[in-house]
Amino acid sequence: MGSAVNVCVVGLGRAGMVHAVNFQQHVPGAVLAAVVEADREVLAARAAELGVAGRFTGIREALDGAPVDAVCITTPTFTHAEIAVASAQSGKHVLCEKPMALNLAEADRMIEAAADAGVVLQIGFMRRFDPAFREARQLVADGRIGRPMVIRSLTRGPGLPPRWAWDPARSNGMLAEVNSHDFDTVRWIAGSEVTRVYAETSASKRPDLLQEFPGFYDSAVVTLRMADGALATIDGGCPVDYGYDARLEVLGTEGVLQVGELRSGAVLLCTRESGVQSKPFASWRDRFREAYINEAGHFIRYIRAEEQPLATGLDGRRALEATLAANLSSRLGAPVVLPLKEEDALEDRA
Ligand SMILES: NC(=O)c1ccc[n+]([C@@H]2O[C@H](COP(=O)([O-])OP(=O)(O)OC[C@H]3O[C@@H](n4cnc5c(N)ncnc54)[C@H](O)[C@@H]3O)[C@@H](O)[C@H]2O)c1
Repeated sequence: MGSAVNVCVVGLGRAGMVHAVNFQQHVPGAVLAAVVEADREVLAARAAELGVAGRFTGIREALDGAPVDAVCITTPTFTHAEIAVASAQSGKHVLCEKPMALNLAEADRMIEAAADAGVVLQIGFMRRFDPAFREARQLVADGRIGRPMVIRSLTRGPGLPPRWAWDPARSNGMLAEVNSHDFDTVRWIAGSEVTRVYAETSASKRPDLLQEFPGFYDSAVVTLRMADGALATIDGGCPVDYGYDARLEVLGTEGVLQVGELRSGAVLLCTRESGVQSKPFASWRDRFREAYINEAGHFIRYIRAEEQPLATGLDGRRALEATLAANLSSRLGAPVVLPLKEEDALEDRA
């Protein structure tokens, strides 16, 4: 085994704490060497909880002052590009949460900075590291259901993400924050690229948020056409309240496969009074607990050149392009063809 990789987690919010704990406790070869958090109170509380010595309020101080080899970016999406580019230019490997960035110009800068510096750039598509999703991908790749004809991928979140994500201009909306994973899953499973996107979005549950956040939506349905002729749908809803829900179905020419269900465990209770009862997944942390650990482990092994990359900057860019196309389609009320035109790719006008 190579020498330890010193990791700095940037942004100690919901995703940041998952990654920080994983790098600290569950990933062989990784050391949680430093943390960066812009909010001083949050930094003091969470760094103390983690017991990390290297504590910083800005990425620049950490890059200049801490002996780190790699950076894990878990800040709000609108900050990803700046932090990733600065980190790569300082020679640090980068694991960046999805969605990779706000627009394709930012994504391209990140890819270019990592390539120029010769560092790893991995995007946080943890479903690629989930045992069930991996098995499904392998079965499809082995031709067990023939050629994929229709892929259905859905993600529904129990509660709204943090407030910054309610603003489409700072987050690209729920299709980016919640359904990035579906856009990635569809192209990963199909082994083919998205060529046309049509989306409908609606603020059905929280229309009250439209006044403060024009363009906000809480539900979405997207249809996609893939280069090889396969079709796909993505269905999103957030907040749904009942639990975290991530499912996949692939209809092939020779069969069908399904991944995921509402139930979180094997226990099913049935009484005359209650009827059939079972628990849903409370959050993405529970459903993909193992996947986040596997993802972080892959990042370390990828840095050490022990594994080939499984979720690259280009994967992040492609999922982002399809997401931007879906938001554009919803605004236009018309299908959008990929690749996006330059004016649509450079700036999201949600
Ligand atoms: N892979 C997944 O399943 C998953 C799950 C949740 C969130 N995410 C992604 O992770 C990212 C963060 O989401 P979250 O829900 O954890 O957000 P959050 O708001 O809970 O946490 C973000 C933290 O970053 C801090 N911060 C903001 N700007 C900063 C900066 N410039 N430098 C340092 N710290 C800064 C904030 O103070 C906050 O504590 C988003 O891109 C989101 O889409 C991914």
